[in-house]
Amino acid sequence: MTGSAVRVDAPGAPFTQLLEVARDIASRAYAPYSGYHVGAAALVDDGRTVSGCNVENAGYGVTLCAECGLVGDLIAGGGGKLVAFTCVNGAGEVIMPCGRCRQLLSEHAAASMEILTPQGVRGMDAVLPQAFGPHDLEETRAHD
Ligand code: THU
Repeated sequence: MTGSAVRVDAPGAPFTQLLEVARDIASRAYAPYSGYHVGAAALVDDGRTVSGCNVENAGYGVTLCAECGLVGDLIAGGGGKLVAFTCVNGAGEVIMPCGRCRQLLSEHAAASMEILTPQGVRGMDAVLPQAFGPHDLEETRAHD
């Protein structure tokens, strides 16, 4: 079950397929410490689907969130912009990406990226308002 009443199967909506991919990869998470599996999946602007699962470590802070694997998959597969994203827990329920991963996603998100959250489909700006990004670095350089 999705654990969400959000309609994800509208014609053309990518989330039915992304949920399937995210749930499948969540089952392969390496999470011996928290026992909390996460699977993330996204559609890329060239039509590819990218995904990742969390990979924990005995050095707890070294843990890689599922989104880290997804972004690695994106870049290693040729880059591009994410146009739709979702992530799920081990029960297959839609969860919010953690704060750090919202920043990670923001770097690679298309302006129109849709995120399926537990409260419905949202844009990047709704889940990470006033995001710090490349434009901030450019502004600093311009002031030098
Ligand atoms: N986790 C993710 O993979 N992504 C998130 O957005 C939230 C948290 C993982 C990290 C850790 O392995 C486990 O969930 C518990 O925090």
